[in-house]
Amino acid sequence: MEVKERAIAADELIRPDSKVWLEAKAEPVDLTGVPVSMQPTAFISNSWTGKPVGVVTGLTFSALHNGEDIALRLEWADPSQDLDIDDNDHFPDGAAVVFPMKDDAPLITMGSPQQPVNAWHWRADRPAEARNNVATGIGTTRVTKGAEIRTAARYHDGHWQVVFVRALRRSGVESTIQLAAGQTTPIAFAVWEGSNGERGGLKSFSPRWYDLHIG
Ligand code: HEM
Repeated sequence: MEVKERAIAADELIRPDSKVWLEAKAEPVDLTGVPVSMQPTAFISNSWTGKPVGVVTGLTFSALHNGEDIALRLEWADPSQDLDIDDNDHFPDGAAVVFPMKDDAPLITMGSPQQPVNAWHWRADRPAEARNNVATGIGTTRVTKGAEIRTAARYHDGHWQVVFVRALRRSGVESTIQLAAGQTTPIAFAVWEGSNGERGGLKSFSPRWYDLHIG
């Protein structure tokens, strides 16, 4: 996956429907449900046995940068726009990208104690800023402050379009990945379908890392 450099202001890049996105190559990403057997508690595993987890089966990814900020755009089909928690079985739609903070961090367990991963997490009920998460294994996710990941989302024609924008470098913020032009970083993806009760470990994910080359 290639992130081209273009002299485009961040306020333009962040618009999911901006025509600047025509300049980026859109790449398909296959998603699959996190196995019920990998859920962190027997209660979750038991209550989801036989129910589908991960009903969103793919997304389209594109990315651009302008030398200072990187913009990541995710689009996927979703017939229902879920903005909020409703009755304990409906949750807001969500999406995240994850990066290893050390080489070879395992994706299937969201990192390990020696190999943390960093996830940027957008949720439809917090539309303008992604949470910066650090995880060192299943069930260890913690949210940290200071990464300043802006997001904008548009629900149009049965599709979500979500853009994440962050400074390539976040000086002085250790709990978020540092990026730079010329670098290639692994990246992976997750989507939560709120109408299916998906949240936390119940989601669709890309079962492999993709190489993201920041040109
Ligand atoms: C590409 C892959 C993945 C991404 C981007 C990702 C991202 C995230 C994010 C952002 C959260 C926080 C959710 C929240 O605050 O509501 C989370 C939670 C969680 N994830 Fe993942 N995840 C991925 C793969 C997996 C896999 C394969 C498992 C296997 C079971 C898993 C298990 C969990 C669990 C149990 C939680 C909730 C508990 C906690 O807060 O740590 N994730 N994930």
